[in-house]
Amino acid sequence: TNSWHQVASADEIEVEDVIQVKVLDKVLAVYNAKGNYYATHDLCTHGHACLSDGVVIGDRIECPLHQGRFHIPSGKPDGAPVSVPIETFPVKVVDGQIYVQIV
Ligand code: FES
Repeated sequence: TNSWHQVASADEIEVEDVIQVKVLDKVLAVYNAKGNYYATHDLCTHGHACLSDGVVIGDRIECPLHQGRFHIPSGKPDGAPVSVPIETFPVKVVDGQIYVQIV
């Protein structure tokens, strides 16, 4: 299947940084956290804020609007006021390119 989509070069995302990418009909946040790459939905589950505008702290993303936090690898909420997990997507890096799997 062709469910892997190239979204960025690995060197476009610094360590402890996050960028927004658009793939198909989705807006995703792609992270470099602790040297590994991850992808989640970009829209916070609490309000209308883009997590790609937030701050990566270790393997957590802090929302820019109310400072709620999510665990990036699992998408689990990890700090009020967020309580609903954020959807995550599988990521792989091949030849310096980041691919996200969207099924
Ligand atoms: Fe993200 Fe409120 S919108 S914590």
